[in-house]
Amino acid sequence: MTIHVKNNIHWVGQRDWEVQDFHGTEYKMTKGTSYNSYLIREEKTVLIDTVDHRFSHQFLQNLEMEIDLKEIDFIVVNHAEEDHSGALSALMEKIPNTPIYCTEAAIDSIVGHHHHPEWNFKTVKTGDTIDIGNNKQLIFIEAPMLHWPDSMMTYLTGDSVLFSNDAFGQHYCDEHLFNDEVDQNELMDQCLRYYSNILTPFSSLVTAKIKEVLSFNVPVDMIATSHGIVWRDNPTQIIHQYLEWADNYQEDRITIFYDSMSNNTRMMADAIAQGIHDVDPKVAVKVFNVSKHDKNEILANVFRSKGVFVGSSTMNNVMMPKIAGMLEEITGLRFKDKKAAAFGSYGWNGGAVDRIHARLTDAGFETAVSLKTKWRPDGKAMRECREHGRQIAKQWTLDSASLISAIPLVEPKVVTKEQPVQTTPIAVDEHPADCQCMICTVCNWIYDPAIGEPNQGVEPGTAWDDVPDYFLCPDCHLGKEVFAEYSKDKTEAA
Ligand code: FEO
Repeated sequence: MTIHVKNNIHWVGQRDWEVQDFHGTEYKMTKGTSYNSYLIREEKTVLIDTVDHRFSHQFLQNLEMEIDLKEIDFIVVNHAEEDHSGALSALMEKIPNTPIYCTEAAIDSIVGHHHHPEWNFKTVKTGDTIDIGNNKQLIFIEAPMLHWPDSMMTYLTGDSVLFSNDAFGQHYCDEHLFNDEVDQNELMDQCLRYYSNILTPFSSLVTAKIKEVLSFNVPVDMIATSHGIVWRDNPTQIIHQYLEWADNYQEDRITIFYDSMSNNTRMMADAIAQGIHDVDPKVAVKVFNVSKHDKNEILANVFRSKGVFVGSSTMNNVMMPKIAGMLEEITGLRFKDKKAAAFGSYGWNGGAVDRIHARLTDAGFETAVSLKTKWRPDGKAMRECREHGRQIAKQWTLDSASLISAIPLVEPKVVTKEQPVQTTPIAVDEHPADCQCMICTVCNWIYDPAIGEPNQGVEPGTAWDDVPDYFLCPDCHLGKEVFAEYSKDKTEAA
């Protein structure tokens, strides 16, 4: 089956209604997905991306009903991950010498997956073009780390279609192809779930890349993603939405998530939630048990929140493993400008709460005082938990005028309130206040002018302004544009 997209462009992808797992089992798909491949037939015939390797047979069968494969002049691989290039092996068996246009980084990924270094790769960079006839060209735009080093987008002039690959997509399956044809709430829910769980760490790159694309000053009539729908109605809406999400996004929302051995920490969570609502009825409060709720939904809520409460019973003097896993994910997602507080019930020591507090601080959250309750909270302890929620919510309220001052506050006599753990990043001591270091905003690698980067010919003593434009971060291989002054970061961390 094919679907007409525009003029001589057809969708030749694959729908996957039943898939539930992506990236192993780390991303749960609640609405299926699609693997979007596009066939452009101008004077040249071009295939943009393929589909997941599990659908290679169906993909080729479908494509062969549409076209003699030998008519394909070349293939564009915007991204080498298996859900897009998985069917390449089967396709290249049929048309082995067909040129494959991709980034240099993609060759490494494609060969690494398919083990065919002899394929006819054609490396492209941002701004490179190919004439496909009928006064139309393809323009390539590299998009490294959105979300793999090999990622790129392809723009078709004349039709003004941006083939954006993962960017602006969503794991969403529907028999309709276009954004104006589907349930708008479902669509935007899946867009946010996708951005928050996959793209959040690269937000600074998202902003930079969008500005770069906009600087080309070309019309965008459609955005043809590689998952989910094609944006044809007001396609720039998703660009503007991405810019908003990439800008340290938060709503007036507080998320509480916990794990609980004996229901005691859960009782604390409920009381804290009530306390928050007492002083700020307008704030959205969402409560999740990590053992029972969808992890990606929790992370999407953290993304939307101004602050989070994280709770765990103490087990063997550490936090419960699912909470530890969540904190690891949150650290990797590199949320910015959010607040957090730890809480939990304990029996004979409360190591979990201390560890949660330290982990949240290390993950960049502005941490408030923690709360521990011994054994099962009685009525007095529940009042104290509720008061704790009130006090923290007051601190976190974005608009102090929205506070309901009429509600009398109970005297805060919390069973045990731990003082914040002082965790000073080691790097602060290593870098004086007037240091000229630069930090990679993606992976936190630090460029110190005193050390330089001799592996790239940057001698010790080289100021950042004199570092050549070809310089790449040694850890994540991104360019100078993702670096920021280290001193600013340090000030925020202190
Ligand atoms: Fe849709 Fe990066 O895979």
